[in-house]
Amino acid sequence: MSVAAEIISLDRLDVITPDSFQSQGYPHEAWTRLRRESPIHHFGDSEVPFWAITKHADITAISKQPDLFLNGPRLFVNPLVERSKSEADDFPRPPTLIEMDNPQHRSYRKIISSRFTPAALKKIHTDVDRIARKIVDDLLAEGEGEVDFVEKVAAPLPIAVIGWLLGVPEDDWPKLYDWTNRMIGFDDPEFNPTDLESEGTRAMVELFTYFSELVEERRTNPQDDLISLFTHAEIDGEKLPQLDVLSYCQIIVGAGNETTRNATSGGMLALIQNKDEMHKLTDPAHLRTGIEEILRWTSPVIHFARTLDRDTVFNGHPFAKGEVLALYYPSANRDEDIFEDPFAFRVDRFPNRHLAFGVGEHVCAGAHIARLELEMAFKYLLPRLEEVELAGEPDRLRSNLIGGIKRLPIHFKAKQTV
Ligand code: HEM
Repeated sequence: MSVAAEIISLDRLDVITPDSFQSQGYPHEAWTRLRRESPIHHFGDSEVPFWAITKHADITAISKQPDLFLNGPRLFVNPLVERSKSEADDFPRPPTLIEMDNPQHRSYRKIISSRFTPAALKKIHTDVDRIARKIVDDLLAEGEGEVDFVEKVAAPLPIAVIGWLLGVPEDDWPKLYDWTNRMIGFDDPEFNPTDLESEGTRAMVELFTYFSELVEERRTNPQDDLISLFTHAEIDGEKLPQLDVLSYCQIIVGAGNETTRNATSGGMLALIQNKDEMHKLTDPAHLRTGIEEILRWTSPVIHFARTLDRDTVFNGHPFAKGEVLALYYPSANRDEDIFEDPFAFRVDRFPNRHLAFGVGEHVCAGAHIARLELEMAFKYLLPRLEEVELAGEPDRLRSNLIGGIKRLPIHFKAKQTV
């Protein structure tokens, strides 16, 4: 650990400003110190005061008490969002699944659960396989060269899978890409050059307007896709209100794209930096464990917040009603009490109880889809690469929510086929 990270006071550690995530990546030194010295630490001087929760066991325990630690009031700790709350309130959108609390959350979650089990996903296996194979074929058709891995592989794969699952016509998939960048990247001037948070809201309005037409069409002409599922779903014998259907579409677009994109690009970066592990992963026997290790290592979601429903004492810490907690998944995924040698990237690590998808009531609904996409991408790509190197530094997203890589320049050479 660097001397600076050791000597500054805990209160001055920066684990929240979007700028530092962009310039330095994940603050693993600070998180390691917090896990060791103050695993439940109050950052009272932060613009939005919050408790940083950095241990695997604490994040698990908190996530498993959804009626005490609420998702609804606040999804993440972000001063910009707090400042612009009144503006966002002008656009009266209902909460998405991840912003709901019980009993509403339980009944809405059931709508999607049946579709997203491993057994149900067997049906989409061939389609994800086809999409991934085409993306890899298109890249390798160039034989050799310098490309942006995000543009060529990591971004198009989840966009295509989400577009196809929802039932969005292929010509409109670029729109999904644009909306995701603006909704998730509102803290980054590249995606939000004007007035910050309102750009995310504008993207949301465009998305709602676009999906309204598809929902209307699916009312009379249902297909085997998610838009039709949400449009015709019923809770207590009643169809969902139109805005709730649109919110469901929005969470799938928002949650399913940037996350998988960054696991794929972060995974490629880790493999380039650990060539022995890359070589091991070309053996299909290591694919399953390798994907779990990529998820642990990259942990694309930096934090989600919880808000106290009432006063309580947790692990000796008095929490007051309304206080905010930030659950740091990447820190849990380097927790020395859970993982042997946590800072080693090993594609055959087993067991691997990572929290990249969260845990408990709100655990990622798309985890099996994300795993499938990652498996397909690396299964087709790695055995066909003769060489791959970094061709420049990764360009990171300015965000304290998603550990994003906007561009990953690589130089590659494909294997000659006989
Ligand atoms: C590597 C990729 C992914 C990662 C790391 C990831 C991570 C997460 C995390 C950490 C949560 C929140 C857990 C919590 O608050 O306790 C979550 C929730 C969610 N994710 Fe993912 N996710 C990924 C891919 C996907 C995909 C592909 C989809 C959809 C197709 C998806 C849909 C959702 C939904 C709908 C929720 C809300 C669940 C709820 O509140 O009940 N995610 N995800």
